[in-house]
Amino acid sequence: MALVTSRQMLLDAQKGHYAVGAFNVENMEMVMAVVAAAQELRAPVMLQTTPSTVKYAGLSMYLAACRAAAEKASVPVAVHLDHGDSFQLAMQALRTGYTSIMIDGSHGIFEENIALTRRVVEACAPSGIPVEAELGKVGGKEDDLDGGNGGYTVPEEAAEFVRRTGVDSLAVAIGTAHGVYKGEPKLDVDRLRAIRELVSVPLVLHGASGLSEEAVEECIGRGICKVNFATELRMAYTDGVREVLASDAAVFDPKKYGKTAMARVKELVEDRMRMCGCQGKA
Ligand code: 13P
Repeated sequence: MALVTSRQMLLDAQKGHYAVGAFNVENMEMVMAVVAAAQELRAPVMLQTTPSTVKYAGLSMYLAACRAAAEKASVPVAVHLDHGDSFQLAMQALRTGYTSIMIDGSHGIFEENIALTRRVVEACAPSGIPVEAELGKVGGKEDDLDGGNGGYTVPEEAAEFVRRTGVDSLAVAIGTAHGVYKGEPKLDVDRLRAIRELVSVPLVLHGASGLSEEAVEECIGRGICKVNFATELRMAYTDGVREVLASDAAVFDPKKYGKTAMARVKELVEDRMRMCGCQGKA
């Protein structure tokens, strides 16, 4: 089917007490694997690209691949700009045809984050494209940005932020981090519950690679409606490529290792979709 926006998808998830999986894709094979997993499990899905991914092949290349995969499938697929780092990039994604946009002003001060987010929300509104923003600092390194540590989302600030920006969904910092966790992360789920009590828009969990099933389920139980997975997909893809090349050094056809890499990504994504409880929701 044609691409959809993330708005209804996330509102349905909020109502149904599950989360939509949002998966970072880097190439055509990853797009195909994620959509195949969604199709198999009858799950709504979000495909997303960060600024560095966009720099690698261009917005229109990713959009074309995502659109082609979505049109062959019969489940709703949205294409999302992840961690949009400037007004200009958000507008480029909007004009290209992305159906969901994140503007990440969390590295600036509160008022700057509000001003930037509001500007993007106003610019996206006429086309009906929903906007995600971030308040507080998710740790670790996402893309070229180092989130640093701490800076958890303050519930009262989250309420003010959503009211003043009109944003459609909000990424919160409760102790997750992008990248590989060194130990078991301690998530501040009480903070998440407090944010949920003051904020009515769908909440987003970044940095889900490496979280336990229990942790993800607990966060969904306390209001998370979208869960982002990136690092694990990159690892699954690369492990697949490595395995084929290591077992046969004479391989030179990209389709050979591409097939194995796709199978690895699909298997992982299906598992993460079950974790999110979004199977059978399309
Ligand atoms: P991970 O790389 O930790 O899965 O985080 C993904 C993410 O939050 C993308 O925005």
